[in-house]
Amino acid sequence: MKLFPLLISLILFTSCSNNKTAQPETQITADSLHKIMAQYAPGLGEIMGGIQTHHAKLWYAGINNNWKLAQYEIDELKERFVQATQIETERPEVKMIPMMYSSIDSVANAIHNKNMDQFKSAFHLLTASCNSCHAANNFEFNVITIPTAPPVSNQDFKVKQ
Ligand code: HEC
Repeated sequence: MKLFPLLISLILFTSCSNNKTAQPETQITADSLHKIMAQYAPGLGEIMGGIQTHHAKLWYAGINNNWKLAQYEIDELKERFVQATQIETERPEVKMIPMMYSSIDSVANAIHNKNMDQFKSAFHLLTASCNSCHAANNFEFNVITIPTAPPVSNQDFKVKQ
């Protein structure tokens, strides 16, 4: 019976020392988590591809007076910019993203007012802001324009009657 406490301390000792050797392999550190996330998170170029689609869909929703869809698209577009600031924390370009928010808000205002002239001029301003960031960051060859054709053929941009 006297052996019992000894046995307990022996078990404790071995499990503790086992723990010590197992720790580096099993513990998820902030560093490894960051590496895993960086591997699976979309890159800035991918996020921009999404933004490009929302930009084009927003235009077709707006010019069709489809204000509900336009509201949806401007919200999605803004969400992608916010996502870029959260994911791409090490890219210096993302520091310029907040400059987009005022032109995004102008488009949202026009949508709220259901005002076509206001929408068109706010959309032009938004597009110019895309290009000024590209120009400021040596991506001036990525030129964004007012779309001349719907970005997809499998979506109806007209208001459903
Ligand atoms: C804060 C700066 C910034 C703003 C604002 C910005 N972009 Fe970009 N954009 C970039 C950078 C940087 C890249 C290059 C990313 C890369 O490939 O790593 C890029 C790349 C792109 C690309 C190329 C992606 C590809 O794979 O072909 C498109 C398209 C694009 N942006 C669209 C837009 C649109 C549309 C807007 C406005 C609604 C916009 N961008 C606003 C910084 C910006």
